[in-house]
Amino acid sequence: MNDLEVALAATRAGTDVIRRHFGASVRTEWKGAVDPVTEVDRLAEEAILSVIRTYRPDDRILAEESGGHDWDRGRVWIVDPIDGTVNFVHGFPQVATSVGLRRDGAGVVGVVESAVDQETFAAESGAGATLDGEQIRVSGIEEAGRALVGTGFAYDRQERAQSMADTLAGVLQRFQGIRRVGSAALDLCWVACGRMDAYWEYGVKPWDTAAGALIVTEAGGRISTFTGDAYPLDDPGIVATNGLVHDALVEAISG
Ligand code: IPD
Ligand code: CA
Ligand code: CA
Repeated sequence: MNDLEVALAATRAGTDVIRRHFGASVRTEWKGAVDPVTEVDRLAEEAILSVIRTYRPDDRILAEESGGHDWDRGRVWIVDPIDGTVNFVHGFPQVATSVGLRRDGAGVVGVVESAVDQETFAAESGAGATLDGEQIRVSGIEEAGRALVGTGFAYDRQERAQSMADTLAGVLQRFQGIRRVGSAALDLCWVACGRMDAYWEYGVKPWDTAAGALIVTEAGGRISTFTGDAYPLDDPGIVATNGLVHDALVEAISG
């Protein structure tokens, strides 16, 4: 199997576990005041890592629930077993598994699969991005006032509620509308396929964005930090757009 096939199989192993438990009552623990983890996050992660270890025993892994290696040296698989755990706990159907492979920090492959409707987003460096095997591209919306923008509220939101509200106000004044999907990986994929024109969030982690960021750039979009610079996977702030409304969004969120 090539790297993309391994990523697809690993991601499917994760969403199979999520689907089996979706809608059932699950045991939940708290990593922070509003940050849940369930037994299903761990079960899904075990299933994903078992696929990666079977086919790529020499590669390194960084996974949300079990930790692991740095993301920027050698070949590293970066795994979020359930992106959208709060949604999962509530039976809200936007939950996904995200699996990305990086080599020396650069994206090699990325796969994000939504667990409930089973949409599979995939990208390979230099080969474009797909949704269920069909090529996808970012939207052609040029005007901020016509652009639909996604965002997320990271788990330190209680401490940063006011500054998040100020940023929201700046975007609401300039853009058509805002959506909060509840899965950063799906936010990125929905920019990649043109359902949304842009997305920003402060407080993301490498496993939230490793696969989705590659899917956006391979679909012709642009990714940056909040200051518009190249996005290293450990920067807390990410801006992802169709390219055309990027500067407008960077300006809006910087006040
Ligand atoms: C979270 C989701 C959410 C985003 C948070 C992430 P999790 O991931 O992607 O949309 O706003 O910043 O931490 O905890 O469900 O894997
Ligand atoms: Ca996540
Ligand atoms: Ca997660």
